[in-house]
Amino acid sequence: MDNHDQLPKAIIVIFGATGDLAKRKLFPSIYQLYQNGRIGNDFAVVGVARRQWTNDMFREKVCESIVEAGSPEDVCDRFTSHFFYQPFDVTDTTSYQNLNHLLGQLEATYKTEGNRMFYLAMAPEFFGTIAENLQAHDLKESPGWTRLVIEKPFGHDLKSAIALNEDIRAAFNEEQIYRIDHYLGKEMVQNIEVIRFANGIFEHLWNNRFIANIQVTSSETVGVEERARYYDQAGAVRDMVQNHMLQMIALLAMEPPIKLTTDEIRSEKVKVLRALRPVKPEQVDDYFVRGQYGAGEMNDREVPGYAEELGEASNTETFVAAKLMIDNYRWAGVPFYIRTGKRMKAKVTKIVVEFKDIPMNLYHANGAKKQPNLLVITIHPDEGVTLHLNAKKPGTKPESKPIQLAYTHDADNAINTPEAYEKLLYDCMLGDATNFTHWDEVALSWAFIDSISQAWKNQTVDFPNYSAGSMGPDAAERLLEEDGFHWWHVTGKNEK
Ligand code: BG6
Repeated sequence: MDNHDQLPKAIIVIFGATGDLAKRKLFPSIYQLYQNGRIGNDFAVVGVARRQWTNDMFREKVCESIVEAGSPEDVCDRFTSHFFYQPFDVTDTTSYQNLNHLLGQLEATYKTEGNRMFYLAMAPEFFGTIAENLQAHDLKESPGWTRLVIEKPFGHDLKSAIALNEDIRAAFNEEQIYRIDHYLGKEMVQNIEVIRFANGIFEHLWNNRFIANIQVTSSETVGVEERARYYDQAGAVRDMVQNHMLQMIALLAMEPPIKLTTDEIRSEKVKVLRALRPVKPEQVDDYFVRGQYGAGEMNDREVPGYAEELGEASNTETFVAAKLMIDNYRWAGVPFYIRTGKRMKAKVTKIVVEFKDIPMNLYHANGAKKQPNLLVITIHPDEGVTLHLNAKKPGTKPESKPIQLAYTHDADNAINTPEAYEKLLYDCMLGDATNFTHWDEVALSWAFIDSISQAWKNQTVDFPNYSAGSMGPDAAERLLEEDGFHWWHVTGKNEK
């Protein structure tokens, strides 16, 4: 976008400012924007939450959070002087009136031109109430822009997402709503489009004539920790597939947009989601595999299973693998495999594009192992791109061996790579909604996911079926074997 060298001015109001997301992601990201000169001094942050904190207590917490994220302590006073706190009851009229008054004062002090970002980093059941009250108490009536940023989960199925959307849309229009999917803020996820659309060698091959399958893995080593209450209601399919995994698939499969504008990119992504082959309840086992971890060993340490952590038996999946088919001209017949889960062997986020073999490989006849060309896009822990090719084995015989052309951001760059939230906050302040999810994408993803959740609800399930520290249940391997493929365990530099 061409306005990316502007210095935005705004007040950011964080609902849920005493929570985990604010502490782990938002404060450090705002600090990075400040530190890197992407916001100047014309900004303020107002934290609101139930707790009776004071400005000083709030500033202390903000300081702790940025120091924990690696910033020096001596910058705290200067930075946190922009932070203000107001105890808040989301159902109480006076809370909104007081907030409006405070914003008016801060706007005069910080010259933010009436630009207001309302960031909802709290329990989704209050999103509608807050949006409605912001409207009712004139908090949107400022001379600048007003934008609403919403964290996931955006509903727990299509029906609840529609209800939530209607509540929000009663107060804000679609252009003012920024639905966060933090994967869209990741450097290498944003790189998918560049790799595809800025390189002649890939885009010509990017279809069912040359690609055998595409695999997307997002495995985590963590369990569900203190989020068990939310997670047990959600499960991996709602927590990761409905949003992050389907967003990555949309970027991998979309047609080149006419221009790099928000509307054009979104409309191409929407077409992919519309072409996703719906899975009927009776077919769910042909396309989806679910798992839940039992006890196991990680880093030489025994860890308990999910049910033990939760304190009761549960049908919630902590792992899901799937075969997605995109029924359009470009992708007919090409499986897109995805898998994601908790307590897996390694924290890895990676895309592997497996190209079809050439019609006759002369070197197989000489005993070379079959090694298809792969394009690997690593998102975590390395950030990079690797192309797997075959080349001559040194020596006198006509033999081939696999080689790799690899590009990885070096350690310094990786540290300087802006955090996903940093980029998304900045984009929102500039009014660039490209890397946020449009309502149409949310609705289509839920429609696809709902039939899976529905089918699973009515099936008995034999959990646990994978050990903590493994790569998931055996059935996830079979899903690919049945099609003559296997998961590629290609490891990067920093991966164990
Ligand atoms: C969140 C999920 O959206 O993404 C979490 O709710 C998950 O359960 C997280 O741990 C993974 O994000 P990342 O950036 O660590 O891959």
